[in-house]
Amino acid sequence: MEKIISLCKRRGFVFQSSEIYGGMEALWDFGPLGALLKQNIKNLWLKEFVLKREDIVLIDGTVIMHPKVWEASGHLSHFSDPLVECKNCHLRFRADHLEEGKYIGEGKAKEKNQCPNCGGKNFTKPRQFNLMFKTFFGPVEDSAHVVYLRPETAQSMFVNFKLVQESMRLSLPFGIAQIGKAFRNEITTGNFLFRLREFEIAEIEYFVKPNEADKYFEKWVESWKNFFVKLGIKEKNLRYYEHPKESLAHYAKRTIDIEYNFPFGFSELGGIANRTDFDLKAHSKASGKDLSFFDEKEKKKIYPFVIEPTVGIERLFLAVICEAFEEVKGGREKEGKKEAEIVLHLPFFLSPIKVAVLPLLKNKKELVKKAKEIFNFLKEDFVCFYDEKGSIGRRYRRQDEIGTPLCLTVDFQTLEDNTVTLRERDSMEQIRIEISRLKEAISRIIEGEDFRKFGKPFSS
Ligand code: GAP
Repeated sequence: MEKIISLCKRRGFVFQSSEIYGGMEALWDFGPLGALLKQNIKNLWLKEFVLKREDIVLIDGTVIMHPKVWEASGHLSHFSDPLVECKNCHLRFRADHLEEGKYIGEGKAKEKNQCPNCGGKNFTKPRQFNLMFKTFFGPVEDSAHVVYLRPETAQSMFVNFKLVQESMRLSLPFGIAQIGKAFRNEITTGNFLFRLREFEIAEIEYFVKPNEADKYFEKWVESWKNFFVKLGIKEKNLRYYEHPKESLAHYAKRTIDIEYNFPFGFSELGGIANRTDFDLKAHSKASGKDLSFFDEKEKKKIYPFVIEPTVGIERLFLAVICEAFEEVKGGREKEGKKEAEIVLHLPFFLSPIKVAVLPLLKNKKELVKKAKEIFNFLKEDFVCFYDEKGSIGRRYRRQDEIGTPLCLTVDFQTLEDNTVTLRERDSMEQIRIEISRLKEAISRIIEGEDFRKFGKPFSS
């Protein structure tokens, strides 16, 4: 994990928030490459679950909502974790995590129920700690103006259920999707991007007839798994955890967590819950506005059940990086190098930079001029990077480390016949290709076609 965190910082993927002031626990900023990778992950979610489907629409709700939302949803009374304080060092922990032994191996915790900070075993009695961040709405700071930063995006999809359904003339089954910021004042945090206090969630509320809920639940487990696999996550690194009745959230009838084999062990990546009609009924009752659906076929009003596939984008980002990360001791053979080399085997469509454009030599004006021309031509369509500093081998390795699928080299032959070399990240093989064919070839290679079919093999 340390190597991944170090790569993320060194190569501009992820930085600790406010680092120059000592940083903020469980808050991370996404740097230039991280922001692009994160966006590409979100784009796939949007494409798969909204753009490619007729039955799911997207909304973009506010982070702050009417405080009554959280009363009706049950978050004010139930969205809490058991908190204990170590009587010796006064640090606070989640009681359930201490009991489960989650801190074992951290600092001084050698066994269950032991403080990782001082090794003490004496804790206060657990009390429930609400995880929602509070603030004031407007200039008056009193209890009448308290509002909360949303801990999930789901509620604006329930509250807007009728407006969305009527404005888009949707019939069951249909879904509302949303991706956006969520905030949780977690008692304990850690494992880099795994448990944060500010993060993004991608959620879908899929409304179905109550008697079809079980069928759609199973379908969503399958769709969710397929989505993770498309992001490059191997099936063997995923497993399913069915929540026993006693650990279900207050709104859920059934929940399955999809867990990923992170470097710190299998842990929740995303989940699928059957939230029944809990939320629509709760908001109907609390607001006095009827959030039922009129079933034209059966000529009666029903409260749809909702199946909710949810995932934290930062957890997904971490899983994608962990899966793609490879450290090759002594370097990869073709390069004949001795030093350890890192390669990020990201699926090409996810890579922040698609093509690095490299003149063979920096001090040859004609090569630099031609490389810049090609860079300007390609960057209209692809995220490209121009680099002329260092040996060509070193430049290739810099791109391998950030997962760039293709390196394009402009050499002396380019000046004669308008061809360039394209080197592919994983095989390190090269082809020679005409400049005029580059755009089409690159698009198709990024979509997954074998790069070798776009030109003649080339060895330098
Ligand atoms: N609307 C349902 C819901 O919020 P959840 O299991 O509490 O369910 C959804 O959270 C997803 O959000 C989780 O599966 C996880 O991927 C992510 N998540 C939850 N808490 C998180 C945290 N503190 N930091 C980062 N991601 C988190």
